[in-house]
Amino acid sequence: MSQKREIGATVPCSKGRFLDSIYAPIQTDLAEVDRILIEQLDLSIPWMDKLLGHTNITGGKRMRPALVLFSALACGEIGVQHHQLAAALEMIHTASLIHDDVLDHAVQRRHVETVNSQWDNKTSVLLGDYLFTHAFHLASQIDSLAAIRRLAVASNRVCGGEMKQNAWSGDFDISEVDYLQMVSEKTAELCSCACYCGAHLSNASEPSSEAFSQFGQNLGIAFQIIDDILDLVGETETVGKTLGTDLKNRKPTLPVIHSLSQVDSALRQTMVAELVSEHPDHGRVMNWLESTGSLQYAKSRARQCAQSAVDFTDDLSGGVGSESLKLMAQFVLERTF
Ligand code: IPE
Ligand code: IPE
Ligand code: MG
Ligand code: MG
Repeated sequence: MSQKREIGATVPCSKGRFLDSIYAPIQTDLAEVDRILIEQLDLSIPWMDKLLGHTNITGGKRMRPALVLFSALACGEIGVQHHQLAAALEMIHTASLIHDDVLDHAVQRRHVETVNSQWDNKTSVLLGDYLFTHAFHLASQIDSLAAIRRLAVASNRVCGGEMKQNAWSGDFDISEVDYLQMVSEKTAELCSCACYCGAHLSNASEPSSEAFSQFGQNLGIAFQIIDDILDLVGETETVGKTLGTDLKNRKPTLPVIHSLSQVDSALRQTMVAELVSEHPDHGRVMNWLESTGSLQYAKSRARQCAQSAVDFTDDLSGGVGSESLKLMAQFVLERTF
């Protein structure tokens, strides 16, 4: 599975035609973000070139950079500071994935072998830390204390959300409200931060930047709910990362939480016993989820969150930025990767 590639090499997997077409208005800006990412990372550090190949640093969907850029466009023009902030956010996101893959024992990410699988957990911890800290090094060049503060708070909340999730492993008494709070921290915070900073760095007012932040929150929650569905029913080839990790790691995700809330106490006991067992049976769990309509329920909750995000863009004055944000919400719901 190990596919060695030069850092910055063209990503072999297409980002998907729909996403490519959404990104058309910001193509050159995304290329600039990629350029910054590659330029910033110190390839003189031993192994760095090989390690970064395994993060596929420019090979993700780049959704957070795109949110920065579209929010910027919706409020004004894209400038150098947007590019820097977008690169810093992508570094933080990538760092969180490198650490997340250790926690989830994942072997594939962005269509290449994970750092923890190719090397070891120690290497992943170091590389994740390097990227986290380098993001703040880069962000310190941005001439906006509010944006830097936002980035710092968001990064902290991502880690808090991951800690919460780790602590809740095997705890199937977690409620939907608890789940949504955790997801809004571990995933939606970076999307929210991207939208806030995009608007703020385009000189939007504070209330307007906060409205963009709320858009990002809603979109991010929808994104994670769909991610949890994909972890159960997605295709590894298409998604490009190890799937099925949520059941293996006994995570209380929305479909499971919903299913448990729909059954009588005897069946609930049986289900929990399976879910906390050493090797939960995927097929057995899927049968329960299907009988309680829980995948459909999760999808409908994601749709509601995405709709709240879209409602916000309806209040904007139109134009490429707001139209693209609306399309991002549609992508989040329809994505298969
Ligand atoms: C993966 O995020 C982690 C989650 C928040 C679910 P992405 O799906 O945006 O990862 P990349 O950047 O495209 O690899
Ligand atoms: C999101 O959760 C991880 C982070 C916010 C870092 P997941 O564990 O569901 O992400 P994937 O599925 O591994 O990408
Ligand atoms: Mg994971
Ligand atoms: Mg996942």
